[in-house]
Amino acid sequence: MKDESSRGEWSSKIGFVLAAAGSAIGLGSIWRFPYIAGQSGGAAFVAVYLVLVFSIGISLMMAEIVIGKKGKLNAVGSFGKLGGRRWSLVGWGGVVAAFVILSYYGVIGGWTIAYIFKSFFGLMEVTGAGEVARVFEDFISSGTQMVFFQCLFMGATVFVVFRGVSGGIERLCTFCMPALFVLMLLLIGRSVTLPGAMEGVAFFLKPDFSKVTGEVFLSALGQAFFSLSLGIGAMIIYGSYLPEDSDIPKSSLQICLLTFLISLMAGLIIFPSLFAFGMEPGAGAGLTFITLPVVFSRMPGGVLWSALFFVLFFFAALTSSVSLLEVAVSYLIDSLGWARRRATIFLGCLITLVGIPSALSQGAVRINVFGLSFLDAADFFASNLIMPIVGFLISVFLGWVVPSVAEEGITNEGARPFRGKKVWLFILRFVAPICILVIFVAGLKW
Ligand code: PHE
Repeated sequence: MKDESSRGEWSSKIGFVLAAAGSAIGLGSIWRFPYIAGQSGGAAFVAVYLVLVFSIGISLMMAEIVIGKKGKLNAVGSFGKLGGRRWSLVGWGGVVAAFVILSYYGVIGGWTIAYIFKSFFGLMEVTGAGEVARVFEDFISSGTQMVFFQCLFMGATVFVVFRGVSGGIERLCTFCMPALFVLMLLLIGRSVTLPGAMEGVAFFLKPDFSKVTGEVFLSALGQAFFSLSLGIGAMIIYGSYLPEDSDIPKSSLQICLLTFLISLMAGLIIFPSLFAFGMEPGAGAGLTFITLPVVFSRMPGGVLWSALFFVLFFFAALTSSVSLLEVAVSYLIDSLGWARRRATIFLGCLITLVGIPSALSQGAVRINVFGLSFLDAADFFASNLIMPIVGFLISVFLGWVVPSVAEEGITNEGARPFRGKKVWLFILRFVAPICILVIFVAGLKW
């Protein structure tokens, strides 16, 4: 890695895939996916999510990476360079979404840190599902704890982004992802062998298509964008650090597969145990944090398993939050000429402040927006509104406005032919914009 204040480049191909997968896999797969699936009808939602990830999701991922690789700047700069000033507004939409998401992402990220400590101090002694839920309720209604752990998490994020692209982000991902994977496999083993677990497996994997509504589609679309880190320009930035000879379609497929796999695994840990303990799948944002401790407490050496899991979960969240912060930071660096350190600290502090209402909205203070808690409202605004809109514009941009950039970018100027190019362009031109529009109109409660 060169001078920290300048743009970086990935030191290896696998480094890029791991970092992009690190951005994708985080709270989205392990916290958000199970609870949204639980609220949206289980397996039917999972089926819609699967289809969206491997059609629109993967196509938009390739699109973002291509824009970054060709633009060689952050989202605002890349759009401006390739499409003129008006299009740089799309990049702006992304920066706003990243800002909003990180403001509450820091709050949930803080929960992972708190649960590392709680594993050692009493969490494993409360074995009943009801008691674990009460521990969680007490925790989230304590404003001081919420803000304290939020600040810790944001501090860690700032620290990593501070150290630059391949120094901090890349090294972190190489180690944590494989460890998390193995531990989750183990947890699935524990969860599905609990008495009564099969009912949960069925809820999660046996779709009842009568449950599919416009709202389920919109939630699945929002989840696809959120979990794949799309629609805010994160992949544009990661793509801008990509060396010339990269295989974008292959990397994108790997990232989507990994993200889907981890989401599936999270569901296979959470739903079987949920049903085994007679808990509610629609319990909302606390689902992962209420269910998992119950599972750990049924394992020999539960304290250690629990602590280890939340450590890895924390790192998974961290590799995502750094990419969120990077979206905003790189804008200040590239477009306004700020030094990395100054940009990182300034934005880190600002976003933490903006996140405080979300932190308090979980029980300490009632802050409701349109009947949702502040945190849920921020999440809905960013994931179900801005991300799909930016995604729509990205596909229109590459598919219709600068198709030559798409063709050159995906084939490395013709050096690496891509057999699926026609299908990809067709999706960008027609399928993605039309589907996003239809889902949008059908899913919003007017
Ligand atoms: N994909 C991340 C997660 O699932 C969140 C994220 C969204 C990160 C958008 C970057 C950009 O946790």
